[in-house]
Amino acid sequence: MSDPTRSDALVFFGATGDLAYKQVFPALQSMVKHGTLDVPVIGVAKAGWDLDQLKVRARDSLTAHDGIDEHAWTKLAELLRYVDGDYGDPATFKALEEQLGGAKRPLHYLAIPPSLFGTVAEGLASAGAAEPGSRVVVEKPFGRDLASARELNRIIHRTFPEEAIFRIDHYLGKEAVQNLLYFRFANTFVEPVWGRDHVESIEITMAESFGVKGRGKFYEEAGAIRDVLQNHLIQTLAVLTMEPPSGHDAESLRDAKAALIRSMRPLSKDDVVRGQFKGYHDEDGVAPDSTVETYAAVRLAIDSWRWAGVPVLIRAGKELPETVTEVVVELKRPPLGVFDDIRPSQANRFRFRLGPEVTIAIEARAKAPGGGMSGEPVLLQVMHHSPKDLPPYERLLGDAMKGDATLFARQDSVEATWAVVDPILDDATPVFPYEPGTWGPSEADDLAQPVHGWNDPPPTGASTGDAPA
Ligand code: BG6
Repeated sequence: MSDPTRSDALVFFGATGDLAYKQVFPALQSMVKHGTLDVPVIGVAKAGWDLDQLKVRARDSLTAHDGIDEHAWTKLAELLRYVDGDYGDPATFKALEEQLGGAKRPLHYLAIPPSLFGTVAEGLASAGAAEPGSRVVVEKPFGRDLASARELNRIIHRTFPEEAIFRIDHYLGKEAVQNLLYFRFANTFVEPVWGRDHVESIEITMAESFGVKGRGKFYEEAGAIRDVLQNHLIQTLAVLTMEPPSGHDAESLRDAKAALIRSMRPLSKDDVVRGQFKGYHDEDGVAPDSTVETYAAVRLAIDSWRWAGVPVLIRAGKELPETVTEVVVELKRPPLGVFDDIRPSQANRFRFRLGPEVTIAIEARAKAPGGGMSGEPVLLQVMHHSPKDLPPYERLLGDAMKGDATLFARQDSVEATWAVVDPILDDATPVFPYEPGTWGPSEADDLAQPVHGWNDPPPTGASTGDAPA
């Protein structure tokens, strides 16, 4: 804790908001519990609240999520401060400066809409709270398209240099996503098959069995493409497909990831199917004639030596049959059926389940017991759930306080992801209705037709069997 580069205060803007409630308070309590947070924590918002009200909100949040650890909570409550005020009002930043006391290297976490990033950054600069050594964490979505992401970067760079900016994508903080990276580069048997010679296709499904959960207003601005495809899923794909980093430092890893994203071909209108669940229009904050997608399926191409010609399918949607995020890498079938014919559905597959449970599985085949030489599916599977797993926000806030940018998205890779999705944003393509509880509009099946259809994730907890021929 005596590290002279470590942040000596944590300021979070948007302290009374949804994200603070769902993610930040539980992460803060956990950090205190693990001994990684013992500096002032200052919430800022415009709600007409005082510190006691913020503490009530924090306790409510903990009760609703991880539960209250009385010891850690008592310490966190001592660290908590609160500043109430408008982000455009210099008095707010004056009050913040007072609360910062002697802190010289605050970490400012902007859990607020991107339209306010510039105002807050300027307020911090004028109050002397953005001096060298201070850092800023910004939430996704970082921009609305390539042009606005560039503009946002320009605005933030007026106050903070790139090395002080930490763009959160909480998927990168997930143990399961880090394990994708580790698994690939720590196992010799993976590398020889990881590329166009042996991989038939790559597929990522992010399914959620719920709707927009009262976030209609936010979702109207986003839609599935901006909410999860441009960030979580393309970043996950990059981790899965990037070349080995050339060194052990954060920048080598981020260089390798950015290079891969730059080799993704911008999507065309033929590569996307957008859907909207029936009933979306009845959600609070949703326009009655909204064409915002709650489902998106895309067929992507990576124009690199390793991946040329390998189809990549990604789909994400709300109100699907279950909540599960899964990455499937399907291998080509053996060139000849020596004993029996291996059908497409019986090909070897790597299945990385990123949530809700975390598993890595390899679908293989073995001889079925008995007289003949015919096979049956076997599943080689590891299940990961460890009490040592750090939830993503705890991990990422802790890393930002240390100044470790490894798991944060760099400006060039954020811009490269926008370049991939830019041509399909907004109403570039029609939106097809689908029934809640289904796997999205049937039009999406055409996208997956060249790879024998989508691999629907097996239900949570179920082992994988032979899919029907
Ligand atoms: C958020 C999106 O970034 O990720 C949400 O805004 C989505 O719409 C959520 O539900 C999913 O995160 P996780 O960690 O539950 O898979």
